[in-house]
Amino acid sequence: MTANEEAVMWVEKYRPKTLDEVVDLKDIVESLKSFMRNPKTMPHLLLAGIPGTGKTTVALCIAHELFGQNWKTFTLELNASDERGIDTVRDRVKDFSRYSRAAFGNVPFALIILDECDQMTGPAQTALRRIMETSSRTSRFILICNQSGKIIEPIQSRCAIFRFSKLDRKAMIDQLCCIAGKEHVKLEPTAAERIVDYAEGDLRHAINTLQTAASYRDGIVDENTASLVTNEASPVQVQNMIKKALYDNFVDARKIMYDLMGSYGFSGSDIIRQMQRELFKMSILTPEQKADLSDIIGEYDYRLTQGANSDIQLSALLAQFAKVGKASGDTS
Ligand SMILES: Nc1ncnc2c1ncn2[C@@H]1O[C@H](COP(=O)(O)OP(=O)(O)OP(=O)(O)O)[C@@H](O)[C@H]1O
Ligand SMILES: [Mg+2]
Repeated sequence: MTANEEAVMWVEKYRPKTLDEVVDLKDIVESLKSFMRNPKTMPHLLLAGIPGTGKTTVALCIAHELFGQNWKTFTLELNASDERGIDTVRDRVKDFSRYSRAAFGNVPFALIILDECDQMTGPAQTALRRIMETSSRTSRFILICNQSGKIIEPIQSRCAIFRFSKLDRKAMIDQLCCIAGKEHVKLEPTAAERIVDYAEGDLRHAINTLQTAASYRDGIVDENTASLVTNEASPVQVQNMIKKALYDNFVDARKIMYDLMGSYGFSGSDIIRQMQRELFKMSILTPEQKADLSDIIGEYDYRLTQGANSDIQLSALLAQFAKVGKASGDTS
């Protein structure tokens, strides 16, 4: 692999070019495809939702599908947050609809993709609304934002709104495996799951994490590498530590804790945060036990924020867990 190839970001390299390649988002893709079959029917679009789920990608796919190779000629891409000035929006959008009117070919309008619209000021949005009114015969707008609530009502009512929520876990895992295969990276299933859980529905985040992980250990991504990159300990190990503290062996639990801190370099607060999360996944615990343990975690979390020594506090926390375990053992 040349240095140049290595520098390519996978999120860009594997950004879908057509709507068919888009991961998940079936309903959205179907509706958009029906507009593509008869472009005259396409309304202005508002794509709204959480980061890294395909909004910009979908907008660019639409441009590709409408105009083919020449898409750049008929598409204006503007980042609303970079060019917030009301005049910039007005001038550039107006210019565009004036200049290219004659040359649209089969598609009866040019496309204006306005990304990060929720960063636009109120007056800029009002101006945009007017421009949308006056140029609707020659232009279609694709407005993109994270929060549709920040877009003024009159603009929202002029658009077909598509909402992008967290992507499906399985679809994300499949996409990571597909990319890993093409990049000759050996991605272990457990590591793929860890990365996807960590990314919380944001595929950009997941792909970036995979790329970082792959660079650690020459093309092998296993649970350990995933832990390092996501800065999260293995859930199995954390659960193991909790179980040992509760039921069997405080000393072993403490060993796991030192291992997590020493070998993996997690801070006391990292470990506490994960203990809290894993606790609620553990089916062997009763709701009452979970409540008691959660209460203890809250106390020690607070002590750490006050600057107490992490090793000592975490040992004490595990000792408290052992007491809870013993108490429930005594009553059962
Ligand atoms: N649904 C998807 N299908 C395939 N790839 C995706 C999808 N969503 C995100 N990606 C990947 O993540 C990258 C970023 O996606 P995109 O730029 O479309 O996100 P976005 O929703 O516009 O996020 P933001 O709100 O941060 O702008 C893409 O280049 C692609 O690699
Ligand atoms: Mg985007």
